[in-house]
Amino acid sequence: MSDFLSTLFPAEKDIPTQYNLPAFQEQREYLINGELKIWRGTLNQVASPVFLKVGDGYQQKIIGSTPLLTKLEALQALDAAVKAYDLGHGAWPTMSVTERIEHVEKFLKAMRLRRDEVVKLLMWEIGKSLKDSEKEFDRTCDYINDTIKALKDLDRNSAKLVEEQGFMAQIRRVPLGVALCMGPFNYPLNETFTTLIPALIMGNTVVFKPAKYGVLLIRPLLEAFRDSFPAGVINIIYGRGRDTVGALMETGKIDVFAFIGTNKGANDLKKLHPKPHRLKSILGLDAKNPAIVLADADIDNAVTECITGSLSFNGQRCTALKILFVHQSIVEKFTQKFLAEVKKLKPGMPWDSGVGLTPLPEPGKTDYLKGLVDNAKANGANVLNENGGEMFHSFFYPAVVYPVNEKMNLYHEEQFGPVVPIVPFSDEKEAIDYVVNSNFGQQVSIFGNDSKKLAMLMDAFVNQVGRINVNTQSQRGPDTFPFNGRKDSAEGTLSVADALRVFSMRTIVAAKSTDANKQIISQIIKNRESAFLSTDYIF
Ligand code: G3H
Repeated sequence: MSDFLSTLFPAEKDIPTQYNLPAFQEQREYLINGELKIWRGTLNQVASPVFLKVGDGYQQKIIGSTPLLTKLEALQALDAAVKAYDLGHGAWPTMSVTERIEHVEKFLKAMRLRRDEVVKLLMWEIGKSLKDSEKEFDRTCDYINDTIKALKDLDRNSAKLVEEQGFMAQIRRVPLGVALCMGPFNYPLNETFTTLIPALIMGNTVVFKPAKYGVLLIRPLLEAFRDSFPAGVINIIYGRGRDTVGALMETGKIDVFAFIGTNKGANDLKKLHPKPHRLKSILGLDAKNPAIVLADADIDNAVTECITGSLSFNGQRCTALKILFVHQSIVEKFTQKFLAEVKKLKPGMPWDSGVGLTPLPEPGKTDYLKGLVDNAKANGANVLNENGGEMFHSFFYPAVVYPVNEKMNLYHEEQFGPVVPIVPFSDEKEAIDYVVNSNFGQQVSIFGNDSKKLAMLMDAFVNQVGRINVNTQSQRGPDTFPFNGRKDSAEGTLSVADALRVFSMRTIVAAKSTDANKQIISQIIKNRESAFLSTDYIF
């Protein structure tokens, strides 16, 4: 037990009232076919990463419980989604874009009213700081707004007939079918909604299962979902993955699989689908994004970017910088400055003002991180910073580990936590080889000033990863940029506009440009006889 960290966790009475939870949150509701059903069976306990000082000891705060639904309820949710889609003839997939937008706008309005509850639950369930929890909520609302704008643009561009090689045609995007959406615990609201909302707005019907942690925070939105969408269009289930989503996949009735999590989890689920060629997958998976700090880099900038890149939200971002390659000529200067900045990060509770380090939500995570650090030490590395790697219950103080090499697990594994491996290098080829031979392929950050060298590295990485950041940390945003990856890191591309495309396909109505066909087509359009074949323009 660390003395340094033992004062971090508060007593119940010391938690500011506005950030404490009003009561134990026992959730029994789940959403199927437009109805909030009440679960009478077993519940799953929700433990906060926050421990509380009680007498001479500490107790993990149990904040609530959620339904542990079974295969039966999961299949009921799927039936509702299948019925609402009705083989593409349901009210939702055939509804006009304007009307579908109105439903999403209604949802957004209702969602905004629940901001405080969702933000508070983000803090308590996953330990995200108040500032970042607010940012996650607001960024999600902005994403929904931007999605609406992007869909209007898309629809406007399709509101015309094209003439090509003697054919006249109209091309529009239409839904794919029933989508299963599952998000990650680190962005349980934002990343989940970046697939859920595009899936819905394009006319798919959805079964949504919240992440492993960050589950209760969806509860305040259940009524908004129920009241904003027609019955069966969105169904929300809870429970263990193996009892619920596995059964959904086995039916073969899932057409789109949107999953943010591990590549192993994605593989296990994809394999269950009896007709994999019918399943479209959109996956955001593991990553081990390296930073490469060249000899002529602006060290202050590199340190600032690498600090936020590796340690914001305790390193629990798929886009986090998870290994730093630093040129040996500057490695001492870099690490000194880096350590000084780590020291400035304030450990504390999510609601503490200016907090930079918070407890971790995954059970067993601190032991896993300790194992990585011990393994690195056994292979010749040191923890450079004072208190580095100290742990206390769910809290792990960042460990800056140096010098890291390929014998260590930390060199290869995605730590997804506050451990920062630094690898000294003398030849850029070492960093290039690392990226080329890695199983991951999400992003890379390069820090330097020599345009020739930067250009050489950029070109070396363009066919390896989805984004190359120059003198900048790795990140997903702005959300209009394509977010993807190669190898074990992703399948498909997400961005405000791309997400609309991945949850839809283009269908064409085409005819030879004969006078008779022209007359029929203009008749259909003039009399508004078809919802598809139309030149109506959304304002
Ligand atoms: O966990 C992965 C997130 O998509 C990262 O997003 O780079 O904006 O933190 P971010």
